[in-house]
Amino acid sequence: TAPATLVAPAALFGAGRTNSTGFDLTDEATLARIEVARAVTPPDAAPITVSAPAGVARAVLNPATGAAVAQVTEADAATVARAIADARVWTAAPAERAAALRRAADLYEAEFGPIFATLGREAGKSLPDAVGELREAVDFLRYYAAEGEAQAGAPRGIVTAISPWNFPLAIFTGQIAAALMAGNAVLAKPAEQTPLIAAIAVRLLHRAGVPASALQLLPGDGATVGAALTSDARIGGVVFTGSTETARIIARAMAANMAPGTPLIAETGGLNAMIVDSTALPEQAVRDIVASSFRSAGQRCSALRCLYVQQDIAPQLIEMIKGAMDQLGVGDPWHLSTDVGPVIDAEAQEGITAYLAQNSDRVLHRRAAPADGHFIAPTLMQVTGIADLGREIFGPVLHVATFRNRDLPQVIADINARGFGLTFGLHTRIDSRVQEVTSAVHAGNIYVNRNQIGAVVGSQPFGGEGLSGTGPKAGGPLYLARFYAPEPVEAVP
Ligand code: NAD
Ligand code: ALA
Repeated sequence: TAPATLVAPAALFGAGRTNSTGFDLTDEATLARIEVARAVTPPDAAPITVSAPAGVARAVLNPATGAAVAQVTEADAATVARAIADARVWTAAPAERAAALRRAADLYEAEFGPIFATLGREAGKSLPDAVGELREAVDFLRYYAAEGEAQAGAPRGIVTAISPWNFPLAIFTGQIAAALMAGNAVLAKPAEQTPLIAAIAVRLLHRAGVPASALQLLPGDGATVGAALTSDARIGGVVFTGSTETARIIARAMAANMAPGTPLIAETGGLNAMIVDSTALPEQAVRDIVASSFRSAGQRCSALRCLYVQQDIAPQLIEMIKGAMDQLGVGDPWHLSTDVGPVIDAEAQEGITAYLAQNSDRVLHRRAAPADGHFIAPTLMQVTGIADLGREIFGPVLHVATFRNRDLPQVIADINARGFGLTFGLHTRIDSRVQEVTSAVHAGNIYVNRNQIGAVVGSQPFGGEGLSGTGPKAGGPLYLARFYAPEPVEAVP
């Protein structure tokens, strides 16, 4: 049987859901392999070197310690130009492409130890988060393989895939898998902070049979590599996940340099709300609020940012949230009792710390966090409503407001007025309220009486509207369809 400490993270946050086989954190063989990976790649191990195209050298830092874990040689503009010239669409039959993606899924699962270790060292992922991330990546590979066998079409050509650091395996893999399954050549640029896990993923995809000319890894920063990959007329489409601000820059670069109609699929930020009315089950609501706000240290685009609690239950519910926050283990993601790991880097830590300092009069409750490393203590802040939130605070910070029953339509109007539309949560036990609220709120993914993170590939396609993205939703059939060239319009005789 597993030691008791293992139960804490999973018990608090739930073990996640998946379509794939998944990993049993109570299975001794699985734990033994994780332990081996942890032993061979301890958090303070000497830096390793990743082979990458020639260009600028960058140290990859462990968010929990600030120590260098790798040296990466990033691409430069000349490398990007060469990669574009070398790229070739994947001409294998759809069944062969699907088989390669399925083999890659099997390889990802087989390599789970090093993958968990790298997600911990490079991205600061806790073990339950690393498990969820690998599951999602594997689900994307198998889902697009199956969906691509059902859809047919010609590739668009060369697709640029630009991904963020917060799901450096799952989103990175999902973008690539969809583009490849449609037969495109992919130029993949991971976030600056997380090139190691991207290198592992690309190596496994190549081992599974994806040709090197159909998938090239181009680590580098946004301003040089990202800009070069989104402003070349030979690019047939761009898939991007990251901030709304960067999506705007990319859209402008594409409009200025690429053929009209070149598609941009952008999945961007959110200012996500949850409404809890006085009929909700308090214990269930608190568990879901804490998971939605603090899991992954709040570094999910789907995370809950602004909670509205009906006035008559607010004092009790807020006390319960504070109590649940006090139970969170905050610290080194390598410890199995850790629920909340570090934020990604010094810049993120400084930005959130400055926000908390500027708004210190609003702080209702704060956990302690380790002094060393890039940690932010989970924090609860009082606001009058979502209009008080200046921007998306990408960390473990939850804002709470109260509302009276008669003000519910105004609350919904305030949420919609912010212009984002990614996730939304509702806790109620009034049947008619579910219809009333969910039909009025503008959001891509709406969750009732559960947490609002962790959409399941295939059954809960994920994506937002308004400032949160262009659609179509990842992990759904319409997403894959965008990677095929449009059908030629037949001439009218
Ligand atoms: P970011 O926009 O700073 O960076 C994302 C990627 O864009 C990185 O690879 C970066 O190098 C690249 N980039 C930066 N400038 C560029 C440019 N000028 N041209 C081309 N590429 C450029 O975002 P981030 O900080 O890495 O990620 C956090 C953000 O991502 C949050 O806003 C979060 O909500 C959002 N996000 C959204 C989703 C979703 O599915 N909607 C999922 C995860 C994260
Ligand atoms: N797909 C991720 C989630 O739903 C971002 O939390």
